[in-house]
Amino acid sequence: MTDFCKISFPESNFVPITLECHQSLSEHLMVQNSPVLFGCRTGICGTCLVEVIGDIPPPQPEEQEMLETLAHNHTNMRLACQVDVTGNIQLRKI
Ligand code: FES
Repeated sequence: MTDFCKISFPESNFVPITLECHQSLSEHLMVQNSPVLFGCRTGICGTCLVEVIGDIPPPQPEEQEMLETLAHNHTNMRLACQVDVTGNIQLRKI
């Protein structure tokens, strides 16, 4: 059975998107359907920095290192291209 995860964008005009869980956000979020922008898609440029509300696995060490540089002191900040979507989440572009 396939599980689906809802990605929503509070405080924006974008409508929620439903993806199969574990699908890559950087392959499914585009300028047409989300406020999140991507650059490198490999976790090194920081373009996709977003606030994530929802229950998802913690960052891997490389992502954690980037987050400490880019968003240190902010909780819930993640690199959207590195997130493993395991449940419903809300993304807020900062
Ligand atoms: S797109 Fe470059 S860090 Fe995510």
